[in-house]
Amino acid sequence: MAAAPGASGFLNRNDERERLDTLLADVRAGHSAAVALRGEAGVGKTALLRYAARQAFGFRTAQIAGVEAEMELPFAGIHQLCAPMLDRLDALPAPQREALRVALGVANGNPPDRFLISLATLSLLSAVAEERPLLCLVDDAQWLDGASAQVLTFVARRLLAESIAIVFAVREPVGVRHFEGLPQLRMQGLDERSAHALLSRAIPGRIDARVRDRIVAEARGNPLALLELPRGMSAVDLAGGFDVPGVPDLPGRLESHYLAQIEALPEATQRLLLLAAADPVGDATLVWRAARYLGLGADVLRPAEDAELLTVGARVRFRHPLVRSAVYRAASAADRRAVHRALADATDAHNDGDRRAWHRAAAAAGLDEDVASELERSADRASARGGLAAAAAFLRRSVALTPDRDRRMGRALAAAQRACRPARSMLLSRCWWPSRARHLTISGALAWTCCAGRSRSPRDRPPTRHRSCWPRRSASSGSTSRWLARPI
Ligand SMILES: Nc1ncnc2c1ncn2[C@@H]1O[C@H](COP(=O)(O)OP(=O)(O)O)[C@@H](O)[C@H]1O
Ligand SMILES: [Mg+2]
Repeated sequence: MAAAPGASGFLNRNDERERLDTLLADVRAGHSAAVALRGEAGVGKTALLRYAARQAFGFRTAQIAGVEAEMELPFAGIHQLCAPMLDRLDALPAPQREALRVALGVANGNPPDRFLISLATLSLLSAVAEERPLLCLVDDAQWLDGASAQVLTFVARRLLAESIAIVFAVREPVGVRHFEGLPQLRMQGLDERSAHALLSRAIPGRIDARVRDRIVAEARGNPLALLELPRGMSAVDLAGGFDVPGVPDLPGRLESHYLAQIEALPEATQRLLLLAAADPVGDATLVWRAARYLGLGADVLRPAEDAELLTVGARVRFRHPLVRSAVYRAASAADRRAVHRALADATDAHNDGDRRAWHRAAAAAGLDEDVASELERSADRASARGGLAAAAAFLRRSVALTPDRDRRMGRALAAAQRACRPARSMLLSRCWWPSRARHLTISGALAWTCCAGRSRSPRDRPPTRHRSCWPRRSASSGSTSRWLARPI
């Protein structure tokens, strides 16, 4: 959670602060509690998490954040949360301890049961909270990998009297349905008075009161918009407000605003920004190592720091996650491939094989058996850790890169089976979401049906083509429903 420029002093949010103060007081009194903060980009979720951290006197605080690029790496979020607590593993019953160790990749073993991992995570947090109350802050929770999101939702729903508080910050709109059934706190823009106060920080001089009103109205109280959009605007620009009356997509507008600043930077600096945006972990050592492969020296960072878009210390930090997405989205496919190739080369194959495989996959321009088989190995590792959805994702990517037709079919089938297995167990256990399970089952079947019949991967094809090939495979290989019904 990087400190953002231009924001000294936290304005208003009285209701939200009160809610968090009460939550912390309850936990101090020996109860547990969870809440999911929801709101659009820039509305102030991270700032509110920071407020909670400041108020948590006497707590142990664990802060983690979801990373968009890691959504398919199983248990990446749980790993972030639990890795600093592993010294308390001995307090757990042996089966839970082993399940968690396997899920986190610190031990080999049979793929652990998701329920057991959830229980183990709850037990570990409870053991840690025995020393003093524990506050877990989960920022950008919409980007947690699916396995971690399920486990943390499970944990948050079952908290009783362990002195644990969990606060999720979830950006909306969000595609996935996680953290449902938890108490919610929906964040709106700042009230008009606070919005004016914040705007005065961004534009300290005098401006026409009508222009000021218009900017406040257009920003709809979104603090990031109030701080960012006036930056760099001339007096003439300001005289016209933001000139985007009624723009519904404020995050999109902010991204465009950042993009204009990025495009003003020297080309080499833009490449460094893209490299940093393509690295999901914010590991400065890795980024600098990869930068050397691209012939970029430390001097190219300076213009990005001067523009306050990026800082590189022990970690790499963008001013706001929207800067990062703006950089990545705007880059050409060839430029993206080049930075992923450099990151793959800079990533340790032994200790971080999965991430290296992902970067190699993102760097591949066409069919490539070498990369495809590396992804297949990552899939095996992911499934050994119980990350079947991740294993299916690795395999799907592998299918798309496999040149040999028969091998591609084999991998497609394996991907379909792995996509179906968690779906089936979700249906059987009835404790996860049936709609998601149905989706996984159907998409697994589609992957198999299409790949078995066509030379291109299902990933490359639009959904209508999926539908058109469905009956053809049903006729030649037995009915689809029969295939769906067989044991997997
Ligand atoms: N209540 C507030 N008072 C002052 N500044 C705020 C407030 N809320 C957010 N900000 C500032 O607005 C910017 C965006 O907030 P942030 O918490 O990063 O949004 P989000 O996490 O919802 O994307 C940051 O610079 C932050 O410091
Ligand atoms: Mg945030």
